[in-house]
Amino acid sequence: MPKDFLALADFSTESLRELVTLAHDVKRNPRAYQNACAGQTLAMIFQKPSLRTRVSFQTGIFQLGGQGIYLGPTDIQLHRGETIADTAAVLSRYVDGIMARVFGHADVLELANNASVPVINGLSDYNHPCQVLADLQTVSEKFGTLEGLKFAYIGDGNNMAHSIMLGCAKVGMNVAIAHPEGYAPLARVVTETQAIATASGSGVQITEDPYQAVAQADVVYTDVWASMGQEDEAQERLKRFEGFEITTDLMAAAKSSAIFMHCLPAHRGEEVAAAVIDGPQSVVFDQAENRLHAQKAIMISLMGTKH
Ligand code: CP
Ligand code: NVA
Repeated sequence: MPKDFLALADFSTESLRELVTLAHDVKRNPRAYQNACAGQTLAMIFQKPSLRTRVSFQTGIFQLGGQGIYLGPTDIQLHRGETIADTAAVLSRYVDGIMARVFGHADVLELANNASVPVINGLSDYNHPCQVLADLQTVSEKFGTLEGLKFAYIGDGNNMAHSIMLGCAKVGMNVAIAHPEGYAPLARVVTETQAIATASGSGVQITEDPYQAVAQADVVYTDVWASMGQEDEAQERLKRFEGFEITTDLMAAAKSSAIFMHCLPAHRGEEVAAAVIDGPQSVVFDQAENRLHAQKAIMISLMGTKH
């Protein structure tokens, strides 16, 4: 197991499966883990807003017998020019783990390289591995397996798309991405996903046709069209993403047993119709709940006193 949780690609298929199994166990039997991080402190650095990540990490470390300290954008000295390296070195003298939500992915890498304690990536412009670990837990709960399922992501080739591609390929799921022209996932992530998928025997499909992506899909997933930090592109993106909304018609083009997923926060009437996200195929609140269990599994594995 690596020291840090920065990207799903850093983990072997085996260790990802172990984390999902541990997340299931933590959910079923939380009391068994109530002292797993006894007396430990998690520093939680947030350079962007958050509902799920903030509350699930703070609650999660508390339920493991430890405590979380929220450090918002203006709470620490980073915004006044203290370096990331110094911040990492100082925090490592006080706390047992650091969770960070940052703009540039290089910032979380620098934090990890300069911290002697584990660093957990709570979202960067490049990826969102905690979300996708919880999503794998959710899919495995709903279908009893991961391998061989088809996972279709419709929308921006963003941080969510990157973690979904790498996570699905690692666990042997077939992944299809449908994005508008000009909003493809990074080419190097496509190449890396293809290499992992070849090794795990799964398929990768990148298309600009949402109907092609959802054909035979078990999971239909979307995310906001303008991510945090892209607010001034929102109007332009509304036009460019036309035809990429998950409507009841698009959902009906997937398998009848398909589930609808969204990392949240969602915009009804933009990337997803209210009838879909509030309808019977939607599992979005199970996903949100599983952030708590999956992140407890991460903290137990990286910081836990016994596991
Ligand atoms: N899905 C997710 O990470 O939500 P928050 O931005 O609210 O943490
Ligand atoms: N792509 C979104 C994910 C939010 C959880 C963003 O970065 O804002």
